[in-house]
Amino acid sequence: MSHNLLKGKKGIIFGALDSNSIAWKVAERCHEEGAVFTLTNAPIAMRMGAINTLAEKCNAQIIPADVTSDTDMENLIDKSMEILGGKIDFILHSVGMSLNIRKGKHYTDLDYEFMKKTLDISAISYHRLLKICYQKDAISEWGSTVALTYIAAQRVFPDYNEMADAKSLLESITRGWGFHYGKAKKVRVNTISQSPTKTTAGSGVKGFDGFFNYADSMSPLGNATSDSCADYCVLMFSDLSKMVTMQNLFHDGGFSFTGVSQETVEKFNS
Ligand SMILES: NC(=O)c1ccc[n+]([C@@H]2O[C@H](COP(=O)([O-])OP(=O)(O)OC[C@H]3O[C@@H](n4cnc5c(N)ncnc54)[C@H](O)[C@@H]3O)[C@@H](O)[C@H]2O)c1
Repeated sequence: MSHNLLKGKKGIIFGALDSNSIAWKVAERCHEEGAVFTLTNAPIAMRMGAINTLAEKCNAQIIPADVTSDTDMENLIDKSMEILGGKIDFILHSVGMSLNIRKGKHYTDLDYEFMKKTLDISAISYHRLLKICYQKDAISEWGSTVALTYIAAQRVFPDYNEMADAKSLLESITRGWGFHYGKAKKVRVNTISQSPTKTTAGSGVKGFDGFFNYADSMSPLGNATSDSCADYCVLMFSDLSKMVTMQNLFHDGGFSFTGVSQETVEKFNS
């Protein structure tokens, strides 16, 4: 159901790879709420072609950009402002990739060239994006940016591997830019820490199903779905959350503050 919460707002949505992607659901919800936006993903991800279906549905143009390239990102911001006809009101950064996980490297034996790339794609890219926007004065006052993160930034989930370090950096960049961009232009910078979600990136984590079911049984409300994550993003992009910035916002059905649940304890009762 639409409430026109984003009517008149212009945005950029990163990371819709296929219909399971969290960014895909966010794009659909933003469209329903009256926003106009551009879609972007890595040039290599375009080859899958699925994003064209989303673009058609949301009446959005696609601008390929590798988040590790200054040139691509500058082009993305310039073209988005040109297409949308002015400054940007909201941005979703829904991008993550771990080379060490992909190559099956254990946390105790990381390859640092892979790790540099992982940090660049998954965390430094948020800094790069905000730096380019800041220098071009591309985001409107009270504009809102959100990046997606995971609780492995605060607690150890062994198979999440180097992505935990990437998410810690992402959340730190959020506080840093949130302060500077807030002071200078009243732009808001936050992360949403989402429950395990069945997507291409999520399923790349070893033992994902066990991970998913464990979190579900530990969360009083159960795992948050990507559809409800999309609702939360809409709230964060809207004027209803104007004074929220520099935060890591848990969107996890209560997982982050639960010590233990009855279902989990029962598994250990002999
Ligand atoms: N799925 C989960 O369980 C879960 C939980 C918490 C947070 N997150 C985070 O949500 C975000 C979105 O992931 P998802 O689960 O929707 O999976 P996804 O695989 O659908 O999305 C990841 C996206 O990152 C893009 N990407 C990778 N390298 C890129 C590059 N160099 N340039 C531009 N884009 C690039 C991919 O093409 C893809 O679209 C990620 O930051 C992820 O860590 C996911």
